[in-house]
Amino acid sequence: MKPRIVVTRKIPEPALELLREAGQVWLPEPDHLLSTEELHAAVAGADAVVSTLQDRVDGAFADAAGPQLKVVSTIAVGYDNIDVPALHARDVVVTNTPGVLTDATADLAFGLLLSVTRRLGEGERLLRDRKPWQFHLGFLLGTGLQGKTLGIVGLGQIGTAVARRARAFGMDIVYTGRRRAAEDVERELSARYLPLEELLRSSDVVSLHCPLTPQTRHLIDADALASMKPTAFLINTTRGPVVDEEALAEALARGVIAGAGLDVFEKEPEVHPALLELENVALTPHLGSATTETRTAMAVLAARNAVAVLRGEEPPTPVRS
Ligand code: DGY
Repeated sequence: MKPRIVVTRKIPEPALELLREAGQVWLPEPDHLLSTEELHAAVAGADAVVSTLQDRVDGAFADAAGPQLKVVSTIAVGYDNIDVPALHARDVVVTNTPGVLTDATADLAFGLLLSVTRRLGEGERLLRDRKPWQFHLGFLLGTGLQGKTLGIVGLGQIGTAVARRARAFGMDIVYTGRRRAAEDVERELSARYLPLEELLRSSDVVSLHCPLTPQTRHLIDADALASMKPTAFLINTTRGPVVDEEALAEALARGVIAGAGLDVFEKEPEVHPALLELENVALTPHLGSATTETRTAMAVLAARNAVAVLRGEEPPTPVRS
């Protein structure tokens, strides 16, 4: 009998083709975000599930699927929505999609950085609101990047790609994280390791690239924000809950820091209403990996992961315990 493969959202055709060669594919029709009840009903009897970061994958999910479930393949690099120990305890392989979205996400992070430091949104809103304006030497002045310090929290693949872009803009790099980067990476970026407190105190822009874990939830809270320079900017393209959004909105409104660029939010898809009122924030709706090329590459990698496990092979990018 062909394995049952459940795909929880519409995915690019090349990925679907790979899955259809390997088994009987089920997709929600029409495409929509499945409620927990719908998700649990859909995965019943599945051998493989290809999921997205919106699906809660935990012990109850695995139990709803049944003991034949072999793999959960998420189309994302972040997997804070998955209870990995609960799945591993049931001998279910978990895979994610690192690498293929590095450049797209780094581009978006740098786009937000430029948008907020050069006040692009403010300028566009002014024009769209048909407000009067004229060029003058003090009009909508932003902050230049050359010679400024970028603090990277989490110098993994995406953090490193952001740091490379920043070097091309003449920025100096400091970084923090659970461990030191390899010597050649430090050398290439002329990057200095600093403890978080020192990085926050000394950076002109702080960009977050650590995964969301119990240790990084609200890593950037009111105290962390208060320790940053009043001229500094915060960029978040990782996961919303790494930042205490309430504290950030207050810090931005009171000039504790100069601005923020945010692609992710604490209670997505909700955005803290105060953030929507502030001019010194650049906002995008979780678009980090949102290019046609990248989303196709992510879905194809997720499909290859699922198919490999169904064939009894080692998947290209498993999540380790
Ligand atoms: C991820 O992959 O974790 C991003 O947030 C979405 O592409």
